Amino acid sequence: MDKWYLQHVRTEIDFACALIKQIKNTSTKKMLSVILSRTVRSCRATTHADLATLKEPVTTTYYCSKHGKVCKPLFSILSWWERYSKDTLDRLCQFNKLRTDTYQTCLTGDSKVIDIFKELEDKNPALSKLVKNWKIKGIFSSPPYVGLIDYHDQHAYAYDLFGFERHDDLEIGHLLKGQGKEARNLYVDGISEVLANCKKFLADDYNIFLVANDKFNLYPTIAEKADMQIANQYKRPVLNRTERDKGAYSEIIFHLKAR
Ligand SMILES: C[S@@+](CC[C@H](N)C(=O)[O-])C[C@H]1O[C@@H](n2cnc3c(N)ncnc32)[C@H](O)[C@@H]1O
Repeated sequence: MDKWYLQHVRTEIDFACALIKQIKNTSTKKMLSVILSRTVRSCRATTHADLATLKEPVTTTYYCSKHGKVCKPLFSILSWWERYSKDTLDRLCQFNKLRTDTYQTCLTGDSKVIDIFKELEDKNPALSKLVKNWKIKGIFSSPPYVGLIDYHDQHAYAYDLFGFERHDDLEIGHLLKGQGKEARNLYVDGISEVLANCKKFLADDYNIFLVANDKFNLYPTIAEKADMQIANQYKRPVLNRTERDKGAYSEIIFHLKAR
């Protein structure tokens, strides 16, 4: 991760980490960790145009194609730390007003093999009971695409910051595998395996919505392999991109149902 931070920024991040580690109150600790994670993401030594797909570390001023002027990498985390502290607190307060009496649980794992029922038993027994009784009605997901992004690299700061274990080899459509025929076949197998695994936990009349920029037209084969039908396709224009100079494009939301 070091190459993506200027020396002084790295020192400030280490200092903030050390301070957060000493905090005893779990909620405060979690909140500060979120703030630091957002800050660290914004303080990487990259150009504004390459925030999502890191290319080369940038250590000096550069002409910014996103803003049409000369920009510079960050030399201190302070301004972003202040900005995200306020923004994160605002969001938490807002969420607190809007939250309903429902369960939200985050399970992490390889979606090709994860046993959702078993994982829920440990993480949220009350929700686990409901899910086993009623099964899952739907999925809304934005899966990775073929050879576009290295997600582990894109979020290396978070693995480093939180000490998460890396699983690069499990990434479906990994950037390094490219977009050739073999990579596309692996992708089709990967996503259809995920859907087959999900079926174990889904009710008979499930609805699945998958957002994809399917330029290789792979989703009809994926649906076939998973024994599902594409009930509908909705076009979704992508206008507000992080990398604003890269132009708008459109994605499709595939609505899959049982055959
Ligand atoms: C297009 S992104 C969607 C991210 C997510 N919807 C979000 O908004 O943060 C695709 C995600 O799928 C993850 N992924 C790739 N292979 C996976 C696998 N085998 N199991 C679980 N997640 C995987 C990637 O790491 C990436 O985070």
